[in-house]
This record gives sequence, C-alpha cells and structure tokens, in this order.
Amino acid sequence: MMNQLLTGPHKPPIDLKGSLVFSEAVASGCRYVRIKTDLTIPASSPGQFFLLRESRVSDPLLGRPFASINASRNSVDFLFRVVGRGTEILASLPPGTRVDLRGPCGNGFPVPRSRRLILVAGTLGIAPFFDAALRYGSTQEIITILGVPGHEWREFAGWCKERIPDIRIVSDDGKIGNSGTAVEEAVSMFRSEDEVWACGPIPMLKNIGILHSAGCERLFVSIEKRMACGMGGCLGCSLQTCSGTVRACVEGPVLEWKEVLWNE
Ligand SMILES: Cc1cc2nc3c(=O)[nH]c(=O)nc-3n(C[C@H](O)[C@H](O)[C@H](O)COP(=O)(O)OP(=O)(O)OC[C@H]3O[C@@H](n4cnc5c(N)ncnc54)[C@H](O)[C@@H]3O)c2cc1C
Ligand code: FES
Repeated sequence: MMNQLLTGPHKPPIDLKGSLVFSEAVASGCRYVRIKTDLTIPASSPGQFFLLRESRVSDPLLGRPFASINASRNSVDFLFRVVGRGTEILASLPPGTRVDLRGPCGNGFPVPRSRRLILVAGTLGIAPFFDAALRYGSTQEIITILGVPGHEWREFAGWCKERIPDIRIVSDDGKIGNSGTAVEEAVSMFRSEDEVWACGPIPMLKNIGILHSAGCERLFVSIEKRMACGMGGCLGCSLQTCSGTVRACVEGPVLEWKEVLWNE
C-alpha cells in the first residue's frame, strides 16, 4: 500500500533540455548553478527536485537529483555539494554547456497549515528552503534554522544568510552562530502549534522526531535516497514506511516523520 498522506495529484515529471548560464563556487565544495530551459518548466513546489545531467554524455548516464531553487518559466537554479563523480562533472561544466533535466519530480512539502513554520536544515538540506521562505514568508511566520558542523562552513553559512537574512545558524563546534545542533535549536524554538519541515542527513531527520514526542502534529521530512529514473519506474528509491513500500521519487521525497520506519 502506498503512503496515503502526501500523495497528491502532482503531475509526472517531464524531460527538458537547457543550457547552463551561470556557475559559481560557493565555498565548502558547493556550487550554485542556473539553467535556462528551451521549453517552459512546469510549476513546482518546495521540496520537489530535478534530475540534472550533461547532455550527450553517457558516463555518468543518470541525472543527479537536486532540489530546485527559484524555478520560473524558463530558469531554475541548483545549489549542490561536490561529493562524487556526478557532482564533480556538473561543477566543472562551463556556461553554455547543454544539459538534460527531468522534473519537477516527487511530491514536495504540503502547503503549510500552521501559522508558524519552522524549517530545519542540515548543510545542503537548506536548498529546498530558499523557495519555501520566499513562497510562504508573507502568509506564515517562518523560522529557518541551518546547522553546520563547524568553522569550515563559515562562508557557506554567510552565503545562505545573504539570501535569508534572519536565518538562525548553529554549529557543532560553536564557531558559527549558536553552539549546538539544528535539532536542539528547533527544540528550543518549538511551540506545540508549529509546523516543522526538515531536510538534511538521516541522523538529523531521525532525531527531529523528538518534536513528534513533544506534540508536533505536522512534522515533515525530505528523505534522500539514490535515484535512477526519478519517475517511479525502477523502484530503485523504494523505502519502507508504516503504510508500506513507497518510492521516494513519487510518493516522496517528503514524508510525515511518523510514517518513516527509522530503524529499517
Ligand atoms: C530528492 C533529493 C534532493 C537532493 N537535493 C540536493 C541538493 O539540492 N543539493 C545537493 O548538494 N545534494 C542534493 N541531493 C543529493 C545529491 O543528489 C547527491 O549528492 C548526488 O547525487 C551525488 O552524486 P555523485 O555522482 O557526485 O556522487 P556518487 O559518486 O554517486 O556518491 C558519492 C557519495 O554520495 C552519496 N550519495 C549519492 N547519491 C545520493 C543520494 N541521492 N542521497 C544520499 N546520498 C547520496 C553516496 O552514497 C556516496 O557516499 C539530493 C538528493 C535527493 C534524493
Ligand atoms: S528512482 Fe526509479 S522509482 Fe524512484
């Protein structure tokens, strides 16, 4: 049985072609890129993602999934960290390079219902929240929390603060912002009527469950799984939930925290 909670009527992703128009190093091994597409990009919501790859190259064959930022008619941005071969190649592409995109994939976060929304990000988990802060900032009170390991993320944290000026930054070593983890910061801010969205490493997502125990009724996490097709066909991104097996690229990547079987 598929997860019933967030499986909305979102449309299947489409394949698009475009050109890289901008690629900037952001420190901490991260890159900010902009793609102009030949055709119009379908509307997307925060938490949806695109598979991105260089056109006409067969190695690597599969696009890599990244959360979309500022997606508009013919333009979409991505913020990614170089962690392996696929991201290394994407980071090295000069402006003008032709790229293939598939998206918007997945469900994205649901429209918030609570008056106050707390966004909890671990490092690159901030990517979907740039759009969330922009989209819901006028209707919701938004608290954005960014957790980073330590001082080596200072420039990255500064880059994020330029875009979300009231972002609360915490670091494990206390050298940037408050000392502590993003989860600890979220716990200190939390009020029982708040809605909470989290994106980051699995241990952080698991730990944010402390807010579920504290009474958070709308607690959503974006789960990272390796992706291949991005449209539900290969089952490569399957994971077990309380409602049965779900595909992270269709029924996810956003799931209710309480739906995820964290020890599987
Ligand atoms: C829905 C979704 C949205 C994402 N959004 C972003 C984003 O906005 N910015 C960003 O920097 N990254 C994002 N990621 C993670 C990103 O897709 C991976 O870092 C990337 O695919 C790695 O490709 P690679 O070829 O460089 O690494 P590989 O050589 O394939 O792997 C290098 C390391 O990264 C790990 N890895 C690879 N793919 C994934 C994955 N999908 N999830 C978790 N770990 C992985 C591997 O286990 C390995 O340890 C997202 C992942 C998903 C599933
Ligand atoms: S990546 Fe193929 S089903 Fe999700």
